[in-house]
Amino acid sequence: MATFKFDIKPLFPEAIIKVSADLLPQDFAGSRVHSADTTCKIAAIVDYMGQQSATAQELVSPVTTAQRLGKSDNQTIYLLGDATDGPRGSVLGLLKVGTKDLYLYDETGQPHQVKRAPAILDFYVHESRQRCGLGKRLFEAMLAQEKWSPAKLSVDRPSPKLILFMARHYGLVRTIPQANHFVVYEGYFNDMIPSTPSLQGAQSVPAVLAAATAGSNVQRASGEGATGNYRKRRSLDEQLQQGCSARNSLPLPSRSNGSCSMAEIIQLSRARSNNNSPAGEGQSSTGNTSIRNK
Ligand SMILES: CC(C)(COP(=O)(O)OP(=O)(O)OC[C@H]1O[C@@H](n2cnc3c(N)ncnc32)[C@H](O)[C@@H]1OP(=O)(O)O)[C@@H](O)C(=O)NCCC(=O)NCCS
Repeated sequence: MATFKFDIKPLFPEAIIKVSADLLPQDFAGSRVHSADTTCKIAAIVDYMGQQSATAQELVSPVTTAQRLGKSDNQTIYLLGDATDGPRGSVLGLLKVGTKDLYLYDETGQPHQVKRAPAILDFYVHESRQRCGLGKRLFEAMLAQEKWSPAKLSVDRPSPKLILFMARHYGLVRTIPQANHFVVYEGYFNDMIPSTPSLQGAQSVPAVLAAATAGSNVQRASGEGATGNYRKRRSLDEQLQQGCSARNSLPLPSRSNGSCSMAEIIQLSRARSNNNSPAGEGQSSTGNTSIRNK
């Protein structure tokens, strides 16, 4: 459990609070002084829980910080607190969601430009309380608030535990390979009309690769194996940090048997045929070769 120097109980009128860019709990009503104090405390909680999440996922750096949340206009953090835990209470979990403009491929290799796609950006429950249903509780609260359905979510680099979580609670098992680091599940594109790619990079995807994805378009998500690719990309990140140029010499994906996933082939193909092409995420010019930055 995460405890702080201050009493968290006044910040948690309910077990789950929702915090956005103002770093105040939703429906906060207080004086200016009170709000400044509350902001500082929420920032301390967000920073701490973000760091804990990064450590749990072995990330290079936290994807959730108060500073980042403060600058975003489309991200929300749900925090789960336990006011009954000790004299000052404790914070048990964090779930960060947001919307992203994504460039995604469906099961048949058709491109879709998805505006404001609901995305899971970070998720953490304290180690001592995992597998007790708290993650589900946090997730359900988020779904109800945002009015999102699980099959229509994209997940930014899911960890093995999240893959298992999605399978366990929502029956989401089969993913659709993407050229970026987001994962979407089978059914994501139901009722969606394919869009004409407007991003230059996407037009460079060889038709043969798109056609090939139609044959083996759905990969089974099975914990470690399914997320291995996404985790490996962190080592690409590390190489880039050490001075490797993503644009001029893209490293080949390393895998013990020397093979590449379809997502990796598409990604490499796109990057090589158009060095300046944006990757799957509309806002990013370096796609999955950038340091994880949600
Ligand atoms: C993912 C996470 C937030 C889920 O929270 P939680 O409170 O454990 O979730 P719930 O108790 O509601 O659901 C438990 C289910 O999640 C999965 N799961 C959670 N922890 C797991 C673990 N250590 N090993 C295997 N599966 C696990 C399982 O499917 C589990 O169901 P089961 O116990 O019947 O096998 C939590 O495990 C966590 O913080 N993990 C570390 C950080 C992380 O990987 N975050 C995901 C970022 S993409």
